[in-house]
Amino acid sequence: MTARLLKRDVPLHHLNTFGLPARAAWFAAITTPAQLAALIAMPEWRYLERFVLGGGSNLILTGDFDGLVLHVRISGRQLIADEENAWIVRAGAGENWHDFVCWTLEQGWPGLENLALIPGTVGAAPVQNIGAYGLEMAERFQALEAVDLTTGERITFDRRACRFGYRDSVFKQEAGGRYLITAVTFRLPKPWQPLTRYADVASELETKRIAHPTARDIADAVIAIRSRKLPDPTRIGNVGSFFKNPIVDGAVFLRLAAGFPELPHYQQADGRVKLAAGWLIERCGWKGKQLGPVGVYEQQALVLVNGGGARGEDVLRLANAIQQSVQAMFGVTLEPEPVML
Ligand code: EPU
Repeated sequence: MTARLLKRDVPLHHLNTFGLPARAAWFAAITTPAQLAALIAMPEWRYLERFVLGGGSNLILTGDFDGLVLHVRISGRQLIADEENAWIVRAGAGENWHDFVCWTLEQGWPGLENLALIPGTVGAAPVQNIGAYGLEMAERFQALEAVDLTTGERITFDRRACRFGYRDSVFKQEAGGRYLITAVTFRLPKPWQPLTRYADVASELETKRIAHPTARDIADAVIAIRSRKLPDPTRIGNVGSFFKNPIVDGAVFLRLAAGFPELPHYQQADGRVKLAAGWLIERCGWKGKQLGPVGVYEQQALVLVNGGGARGEDVLRLANAIQQSVQAMFGVTLEPEPVML
């Protein structure tokens, strides 16, 4: 079975939404946990460097990869419990995230509507704790199943074990690369409460004169906003936000606000302040600008776009130039958000 599973020298340009050219020395598409077990049992396994690939929508390929790419294509989705206070829904890691969100809404299980149209897979969602329009995935997460790639052991992680943070989890930190997530279970609370506190969502609903939105109305509003502000990755190569919104100390914020009173900011529970990276980048004059084949999207300065034929080094060159500008003008360090390989 392993001989049929393993492919050599596989191009990855169609498997990353930035459309970057790179090749994997070894490649295997995983549709069942049993296939993974067969690979882990191979004698060569421990000598191969591994990389787990989902939808490739939060990934920058900086060059060819000399190891084994494990492309997660595990499917399946079902209601596993209809409890008094929640619907418990489970999905295979390879399921498309947006299709999964739409399916839950069609079934009458609301709760994920604010996360509509986020590219990528269900299995990648916990890795960076996807979030948008006033909701983070962590708030709807119950548990995930994973395989430890060093031992082959199957492990369940609850919310605490995942150590979710802003665009962060244990899978981006010390557990990075060690586990392959096979399925995720969500807890969608009853009764459902609409989340419309994000200004863009509130104004979109107001424009449509919807005072009492259904979950589908919110999904449609989010889809409309995303379609206006973010490039469609099937048409223009991109990975969504390229940098995290930086979180600075209160004292740093006060110093910045004195010079830039209109700086958008979000107070954090711990006294620190989150700044809008898109605004900082725009103020440095980068919005709509191009450096070689990579550009800064004209509707959202936090998004870098492939103008055609970009390579990993072109993306890094523009990202570095933006980081230097923001550092020079504001003294703030921008941290890239996607995974770099
Ligand atoms: N802004 C500008 N200029 C820009 C872009 C933004 O001035 O070019 C300002 C906006 O006017 C607003 C503020 O910055 O005051 C925030 O902008 P926006 O609402 O568009 O959100 P964001 O902070 O840029 C974050 C997430 C997005 C998510 C949206 C909506 C991160 C890194 N990004 O973007 O997530 O969709 O909020 O919740 O947290 C992603 O992670 O890939 C992603 C797209």
